[in-house]
Amino acid sequence: MSEVHVIDHPLIQHKLTYLRKKETGPKEFRELANEISTLMAYEVTRELPLKEVEIETPVMPTTSKVISGKKLAIVPILRAGLGMVDGIVDLIPAAKVGHIGLYRDPETLEPVEYYCKMPTDIEARELLVVDPMLATGGTAIAALQFVKDRGAKNIKFMCLVAAPEGVKKLQESHPDVDIYTAALDKRLNDHAYIEPGLGDAGDRLFGTK
Ligand code: URA
Repeated sequence: MSEVHVIDHPLIQHKLTYLRKKETGPKEFRELANEISTLMAYEVTRELPLKEVEIETPVMPTTSKVISGKKLAIVPILRAGLGMVDGIVDLIPAAKVGHIGLYRDPETLEPVEYYCKMPTDIEARELLVVDPMLATGGTAIAALQFVKDRGAKNIKFMCLVAAPEGVKKLQESHPDVDIYTAALDKRLNDHAYIEPGLGDAGDRLFGTK
């Protein structure tokens, strides 16, 4: 079974409070979503492998460590996932960014992929699939399956707010994918919104509605 990491550093909790507030407009919402993503990325990358390299300081030669092995790719689920990318790239500028877009077929209710552009070496990278809200889990489960079908093996999922229902479904469907969230909220309501949540993350990021 995958692990669920609630990254509740005081700075993250503080920023999340302003992200949740209904008075927070799109400009501030975007800034906060990116700032929280940067802080979370620090923790999500804690296990990245290191290797020793020979360098010279102005004083003497020495060995020192750099990140080795698998490189990272960030995959935002369109469109709200875009609101987390800049914050992560600030911390990991060498990361490549893939994009995936899904919609639910109104008749079959099956998720259909309408856009997918991944780095060519996806199977050699550690993938960080991001979406601010893990609500029912349906979109995340489908997105993770689509990237696995393209060869991704080493995947983490990162969101800002998760509902227990979505966490459970994601863990059941993808037991190999660890979940990182800034908050684990109470529940989903009858409209599949997270309570207390923060409303529609896409609308709040982009000022739509
Ligand atoms: N998507 C959102 O943007 N908000 C929710 O509360 C649930 C799903």
